[in-house]
Amino acid sequence: MVTYVDAATAPLKNTGHVRLYGRDAFVGMHRAGRLAAECLDALTPLVQPGVTTDEIDAFVYDFGVSHGALPATLHYRGYRKSTCTSINHVVCHGIPNDKPMRDGDIVNIDVTFILDGWHGDSSRMYGVGQLRRAAERLLEVTYESMMRGIAVIRPGATTGDIGAAIQTYVEAERCSVVRDFCGHGVGRLFHDTPNILHYGRPGEGIELRPGMIFTVEPMVNLGRPHVKILSDGWTAVTRDRSLSAQYEHTVGVTESGHEIFTLSPAGLDRPRSAG
Ligand code: MF3
Ligand code: CO
Ligand code: CO
Repeated sequence: MVTYVDAATAPLKNTGHVRLYGRDAFVGMHRAGRLAAECLDALTPLVQPGVTTDEIDAFVYDFGVSHGALPATLHYRGYRKSTCTSINHVVCHGIPNDKPMRDGDIVNIDVTFILDGWHGDSSRMYGVGQLRRAAERLLEVTYESMMRGIAVIRPGATTGDIGAAIQTYVEAERCSVVRDFCGHGVGRLFHDTPNILHYGRPGEGIELRPGMIFTVEPMVNLGRPHVKILSDGWTAVTRDRSLSAQYEHTVGVTESGHEIFTLSPAGLDRPRSAG
């Protein structure tokens, strides 16, 4: 059983209820989401062989602060960076470091900015130099799976409809969906109720209602879905060391369907090889 609460009056902590936001929240989320997208756009020329993920992290910090925002990951549950950078078989939560990126790498950069108290959370994949065809295909499948999940979002649909749309497509493409991480409610809080699973069956989960705000952020592997966490306590990698990719948008449920808050103004939020 799920209860829906008015976000304007509910306590500012995750109580297990689903927050329904009003008009002002959607305006604030559009601004925070656009800033995250603009930062991901501005990073594009920086993702080159020889550049370190620490340099990307510094860019994200400076971009946020110079636009009046703070990176939500900084000091979040002991995390000490402004972004996550997940390369090749790293599934998510890769910690920026001083190692140079190499030709052929695929890297997910995940940015969450807090602007006027609103969290805009988005990630996308970048190719470092020239990619192999298998890597390019994984990026296309992962992006398409996210967009198919988002496409079903409207009042009366369920979280299971989102997961089913993603899983059905990914598995038909002979890839696998990571089960250990999910999308999440977002808004005034970084990680809130409900969980948005990227697998499942139509009609399962909770019903979507106007005013809900959450992320859709599927992680897709070329090999098997299983992950392990490295000894740093954060870095998640594929157990079989197969390549992994992820895309993430923050979306809001409207009366007629949904809005995506983190669209790229420059149209750079999709794989560059996609037609
Ligand atoms: N931005 C990630 C997400 O999509 C969360 C990163 S939390 C961190 O939910 F601590 F690992 F940075
Ligand atoms: Co997220
Ligand atoms: Co994110």
